[in-house]
Amino acid sequence: MESRYSHFIDLNDYPVAWWNKVIKLGAEIYAHPQRYIQACAGKIMATLFYEPSTRTQMSFQSAMIRLGGSIIGFDNPMSSSVSKGENLKDTTKVVSSYSDILIIRHPMAGSAKAAALSADCPVVNAGDGGHLHPTQTLTDLLTLHMEKKRLDHLTIGLCGDLLYGRTVHSLCKALSCYPGNRFVLISTPELRMPKYIIKMLAASGCEYREEASLDDAIGELDVLYMTRIQRERFASEKEYLAQKDIYCLTPDKMLHAKSDLAVLHPLPRVDEIAVAVDDDQRALYFKQAQYGMYIRMALIMTLLESKNTQPLLHGKEQPALCCRNAKCISSCETYLPSRFIEKDGRIRCEYCEERAETIDSI
Ligand code: NCD
Repeated sequence: MESRYSHFIDLNDYPVAWWNKVIKLGAEIYAHPQRYIQACAGKIMATLFYEPSTRTQMSFQSAMIRLGGSIIGFDNPMSSSVSKGENLKDTTKVVSSYSDILIIRHPMAGSAKAAALSADCPVVNAGDGGHLHPTQTLTDLLTLHMEKKRLDHLTIGLCGDLLYGRTVHSLCKALSCYPGNRFVLISTPELRMPKYIIKMLAASGCEYREEASLDDAIGELDVLYMTRIQRERFASEKEYLAQKDIYCLTPDKMLHAKSDLAVLHPLPRVDEIAVAVDDDQRALYFKQAQYGMYIRMALIMTLLESKNTQPLLHGKEQPALCCRNAKCISSCETYLPSRFIEKDGRIRCEYCEERAETIDSI
């Protein structure tokens, strides 16, 4: 399936050289914002936010306004025709005909790719369920580029909800593409990093280990990426409550960290970083949120300027296979063409990347 537009669904759809170019442009805009105030004059950006957001939505909106463009959209689908039962295809088709670029956040995995199939403008994935969050990753990469001056040879600790936290999935995929990075995956057994990410780390040749204790790991880290326990993605409140207070970064713990540790967090923070840590100069999460606006300015400019020649779907139709992931967009938008790709030696749904099942096994 061809698309004329340059969508941004997964960072790994683009080569590392492209990421580096966007990061460089983000740094350039950060240094000289005045040079870009007319860069998107006359352009309209639509934000379709089917899930709550503060930073992602507002940083995209302020990015477009700072580039001289305008914004439309919704952040409460219940105030749009979605509440009347409109499907994703129709909403996307219509809104993309009003705008030059469309930013979507949605609770189902694979939703941004699904939206891109019917969009008449570039689509940006601003978070698709527990799957990916590539613009947060660009934010994280710009933060490391600005604050650590490198994206390679770093020891990165990822701590908290590694199972449902989409930001850590995208970040791991990205940082594994730079040489010499080591990963310490700090979580409870229940919230371990999904197997497909672990396999990807192993395949990329990166050193990694799984670890239960933040205290044991903190001293060796160059970067500590804390995450919120993703309450909304748990099957029950009981399961969430059992996980919620296990990791908390405190000033005491910071005593054992390197003097140039970078503490990042995609935000929102709940209880996983004590407020007292905010005054530590190694706490970079608020700065990180601000870099998010600059990298999104760079991304909007880049996508509006480029033409695409790549097909959107790469997978094959396989009538004997199906996706059984209840959180995949293909489970509710049933008109979507089902497609399967081979990844890490397994056949996976092209939308959510979960393992495909044979129809007989249902
Ligand atoms: C994250 C998200 O939405 O996944 N936040 C963000 O985009 N800045 C992290 C989270 O919600 O925990």
